[in-house]
Amino acid sequence: MTSALEHARTCPISEIVPMSPEMLKCPSIMNRRFHHEAPVFQDPTSGIFFISRYDDVVAMAMDHRTFSSVMPGGQAGTGSMVSDDPEIKAIIDQGYPGVSTMLTADPPVQRHYRKFVNSAFSPESLKVLEPFIDRVANELVDAFIDEGQCEFLSAFGVPLPLTVIASQIGVPLSDLSLLRKWTNAFIGNLSQQLDRDGLLQAAKDVLEFQLYFVEKMEARRAQPEDDILSKLVNASIDGEQPLNDSECLSMLSQIMVAGNETTSAALTEGMQLLINNPDQYEMVRKDPSPEMIHCLVEEVLRYTSPSSNMFRRTTREVDINGVTIPENSVCFARFAAANQDDERFPDALKFDITRDNLKDHVAFGKGVHHCLGAAWSRREMNGGFKVIFERMENFRRTAGAAEPEFSANALLHGLTGFDLSFDKK
Ligand code: HEM
Repeated sequence: MTSALEHARTCPISEIVPMSPEMLKCPSIMNRRFHHEAPVFQDPTSGIFFISRYDDVVAMAMDHRTFSSVMPGGQAGTGSMVSDDPEIKAIIDQGYPGVSTMLTADPPVQRHYRKFVNSAFSPESLKVLEPFIDRVANELVDAFIDEGQCEFLSAFGVPLPLTVIASQIGVPLSDLSLLRKWTNAFIGNLSQQLDRDGLLQAAKDVLEFQLYFVEKMEARRAQPEDDILSKLVNASIDGEQPLNDSECLSMLSQIMVAGNETTSAALTEGMQLLINNPDQYEMVRKDPSPEMIHCLVEEVLRYTSPSSNMFRRTTREVDINGVTIPENSVCFARFAAANQDDERFPDALKFDITRDNLKDHVAFGKGVHHCLGAAWSRREMNGGFKVIFERMENFRRTAGAAEPEFSANALLHGLTGFDLSFDKK
């Protein structure tokens, strides 16, 4: 354990630095202390209020009037970037301005935008998509199964949701690596950990993303296809104007980032959890039924909570657990911390697929912003684990491989890679 984590265990609570890379990579010690000692903790460096208890996080997510998702000065998720650095700003200015749409807007604006893509994420659309998800999962396994080992994140975790998203947005599979690059640029910007060179590169990549999709959108206006791009540029809901380019870019960036990184992270950490918890692994191995895999998926979602924190801004002074949060304060709804609250999930740090309240987790959020892609993601994870259990066994970490590491990101949580060995069935 690093000394920063050791320190966090015993130091005065005010000395915990929640946005430090160590805490972002491994937040459980901090979460435990916040639950007991500081359910509302104001980070002295950033000024952000960290809300960590399950009941408080749910109450926040359900009260969008008090806890707004619109941030002053714009935020990632608007399809663009913001910077005061002249060189970075000059790149951003060549592109399209950011617009608050779903994730970064409040009702009724948020609901308005969500209507444009709801049909793409409906149960009917998912039914049509299911055989494709299963085929992609099998083809990915085909590519590495004879090796007996793989780096699971890049061999399976990333390409499964990426291929599904690309196909549904309407991006040719030959451009998957571009989609991955642009997702990384948005995530790097979100991480709040990039240095200037990193931000400069992210701005270039975001501009490339915008120009690529604006060209594609033009093509879909001229000749619509059966994909999300065509829905975005051609749909006119409730007799209103179709969306403009900036609005579409914001929506696309949200679907792309939210749809890729989170599911990849859950699948990959899920494999690590199975290996680290042989009793749970054994239960699924003995009975890989859809019901058992469903329990595995829900507990993986609770335990990993890839979308760990989300911003909110208070629209009025509000009191939580005796702490007064002034109007216009930035808060974090800490979904991952809520999912580790012992009050809701007894022995929360135990990975336990037999919990009787598996479905209570808030990995997909709650309230008006509840994840648009939750059903997709669940289907990708259920389908993905099914194929893995059908075709492989004896999962283990590859001998001699580097210790798996989590990335440091203020909003997203996930491993940077995972070296898996297995036997082919
Ligand atoms: C394991 C996978 C996933 C997790 C953990 C996750 C988590 C979340 C969470 C916590 C929220 C709520 C944010 C808030 O309250 O501010 C959210 C919203 C959202 N998610 Fe997901 N998500 C996942 C997969 C996906 C997928 C596959 C897609 C799309 C393809 C997607 C698209 C979205 C969008 C567009 C929103 C914003 C909805 C709105 O604000 O109305 N997510 N997600």
